[in-house]
Amino acid sequence: PRNRIFFWKVTSTTLAPDGVTRPVILVNEKYPGPRIEVNRGDSVTVVVENALDVPTSFHWHGLTMRDDPWYDGVPGMNQCPIPPGTNFTYAFGTDNVVGTHWWHAHFENQYIDGLVGAIIIQDPPETNPFRLAYDEERTIVISDWYHLPTGPLLAHYLSPESQGIEPVPNSGLINGKNIFDCSKVQPANLECNPGERSVFHFLPNRRYRLRLINSGAAAAFLFSIDEHKLQVIEVDGTDINPILVDSLPINTGQRYSVILTTNQEPKNYWMRAEMGMACLPNTPTNLDPIVLAEIRYQGGGKGEPTSVGRFQPGTPKKGDPAPINPAFEAACLDPDLYSLHPLQPQPLLEPISKSIRVQITFKADPVDNITRGYLNDITYAGNAWRPTILQNLDPVETFEIAQHVMKIDKRDSIVQIILENPHGGEHPFHLHGHTFQVIAQGQGVYEEGKTELNAINPLRRDTATIPRHGFAVIRFKADNPGVWSLHCHIEWHVTTGLVMQFVELPDELRALGLPKQSAKLCEAGPPKGFKAH
Ligand code: C2O
Repeated sequence: PRNRIFFWKVTSTTLAPDGVTRPVILVNEKYPGPRIEVNRGDSVTVVVENALDVPTSFHWHGLTMRDDPWYDGVPGMNQCPIPPGTNFTYAFGTDNVVGTHWWHAHFENQYIDGLVGAIIIQDPPETNPFRLAYDEERTIVISDWYHLPTGPLLAHYLSPESQGIEPVPNSGLINGKNIFDCSKVQPANLECNPGERSVFHFLPNRRYRLRLINSGAAAAFLFSIDEHKLQVIEVDGTDINPILVDSLPINTGQRYSVILTTNQEPKNYWMRAEMGMACLPNTPTNLDPIVLAEIRYQGGGKGEPTSVGRFQPGTPKKGDPAPINPAFEAACLDPDLYSLHPLQPQPLLEPISKSIRVQITFKADPVDNITRGYLNDITYAGNAWRPTILQNLDPVETFEIAQHVMKIDKRDSIVQIILENPHGGEHPFHLHGHTFQVIAQGQGVYEEGKTELNAINPLRRDTATIPRHGFAVIRFKADNPGVWSLHCHIEWHVTTGLVMQFVELPDELRALGLPKQSAKLCEAGPPKGFKAH
């Protein structure tokens, strides 16, 4: 194992990933940002220089941060924000994780403005069960994209006028690229030039592991490659018994690895990421929901692909109405849970020591008339500079209700969370610090003893979709001391309160102590004149 050091400088600048120029925030001037690729067991050090004029912080989505809970990056829970003009060093191990993960800012909505990137933890050949199943790999970061920065979008969203309707993406990107039709730009005075698409050069008759990451703010995508099938081998860092699919839905925060075999006629093909319109809360007017990239077989000629998608006749033309996979459009679900099983079997976690129901609702506040999200009638409102980890972790009554803290005292106790979503939009929920078993997921309501469970070797992942008018049931074992967030990964809903937190094993957490630099971050408090959203 090695120690790998990464130096990051965070700056604000402008970028035109799809041709439309807008303000962005970037790490080392890259979008997506620099990838962290290490071998399992390596330790990772990320030295962050915050050259913005606002605070920031970073989260390592999918890493369990075992023994390093204060570097999980959530202001108000496990760290204070990194003030502008200062440095902060994250350090964490990777003993217990492999697979495809990602990092993103976790301060306010900064990641929507560009602070995202891939984390790949390579399993060494001795232990990688798929080492003989692919020849090469590529990382594919898929994201929705907005032509305005989050500042003005939030100002509207957090006003009574929005009635809680989330900002709608204008575009989508594959590895930070796309072509936006400049005639549709709104507001029309935004600078727009021809963008370009991502291109993947592939050799015929080779097997490519494609690591898919949805780093978007809100939209689920349906991923496919024309005239090819995909073999799914990994879900959020969990290797699974391979299954063959035509296309794969991927929600915000989720990751998959698929193996693509280039055994078709050597020509060029479209890679498609179709944005799930039905999964979005309202219908965009100026959006082309199909994001394309080119796959170029060696010897496949120079022209644009002419391949045909499964759900769309012919090559998409400018201005075409955009047909989309009808099944995905109707339900925008995760892939069928009951067909996904980890390669390394693990029995159903039981007996349950704590079971909670968490109900998702939205309502307008009677005082300010702003629509917010609620988990069991609590809308999260933490103080970034008063993180849970610095507070008296015992008893829970000392926390404010709006911090929505749940405590788990007993090591190895099994926690079950029943997430209920009577709401008409879906919600991808992410738990920090764990991969959980997904033991049920479906439409309607979960009924103990009646709903069919995925009880035999259930899927383990860290971000699961709660279908609209539906539910998901997850279980995890409390064996990781820390303060862990559970939240909707539609980033707008983090702002409006669909967030709660677990204080897990407070005694052990206290015994771990807090690094000096973490304590120091909190001493100064918010920068002068800083206004939270
Ligand atoms: Cu990827 Cu708390 O998030």
